[in-house]
Amino acid sequence: MTRRLTFNIFRYNPQDPTSVPHTDTYALEEAERMTLYIALTKIREEQDSSLIFDFCCRAGICGACAMVINGRPGLACKTLTKDLPDEITLMPLPVFKLVGDLSVDTGTWFRAMNEKVESWVHSSKKMDPTVQEERMDNALAEEIYELERCVECGCCVAACGTANMRPDFLGATALNRIARFIMDPRDERTEKEYFEIVGTDEGIFGCMGLLACEDVCPKQLPLQDQLGILRRKMGWTAVKQLFGLAK
Ligand code: SF4
Ligand code: F3S
Ligand code: FES
Repeated sequence: MTRRLTFNIFRYNPQDPTSVPHTDTYALEEAERMTLYIALTKIREEQDSSLIFDFCCRAGICGACAMVINGRPGLACKTLTKDLPDEITLMPLPVFKLVGDLSVDTGTWFRAMNEKVESWVHSSKKMDPTVQEERMDNALAEEIYELERCVECGCCVAACGTANMRPDFLGATALNRIARFIMDPRDERTEKEYFEIVGTDEGIFGCMGLLACEDVCPKQLPLQDQLGILRRKMGWTAVKQLFGLAK
């Protein structure tokens, strides 16, 4: 039997001075294999063309469709309505600037984060397109790839109590990024340089170990492991700094 779903959707357009935050309710017949992407598109096409939400790839790759689904951050294009109850509440991700309704600006936040942690391989070697890059050990390349799968959806940041309370907190995605560069033999930054970026209260020592980040990550990144490893590494560097041994 087809279910009739009720959607309670947060509505607010900060660009419109007459707009006030409120919830609108829509009813929709559930279809087989229906995702929240399909449901929202149907609502926009058939019931309310003013509804604002983001989608791009519809395949869990671009990270654009992250929203709070019945209290939990997730990707709307990868969420099947059959896995949800009859009543579905959708809210925009907290922490990020609201564009309108369910759409938030994660781009500005991620750009600032990537600049803060200098999210690129720091190498003094000159790029020469005629010379083949030195081959990396396969197992290490796979380990690095595992951490590279982040799609910058923002779910881990939205779910983190620390990131919600402290705008200066780097968040699990940034800490994971640094863990990835520490593993990369091509990155020539010293342990002191890594420490300056993440061995701080805004970095790994601000993380309270709440672990919601790993719970909600739609790409199942091993954030818990990486945060633990980074905390130990940075703790050890702090001790070495005390004795003037850190390089
Ligand atoms: Fe999204 Fe996971 Fe990347 Fe966080 S670490 S931004 S939850 S993909
Ligand atoms: Fe937040 Fe994850 Fe740390 S939820 S407090 S970044 S363990
Ligand atoms: Fe790209 Fe959902 S639309 S991840």
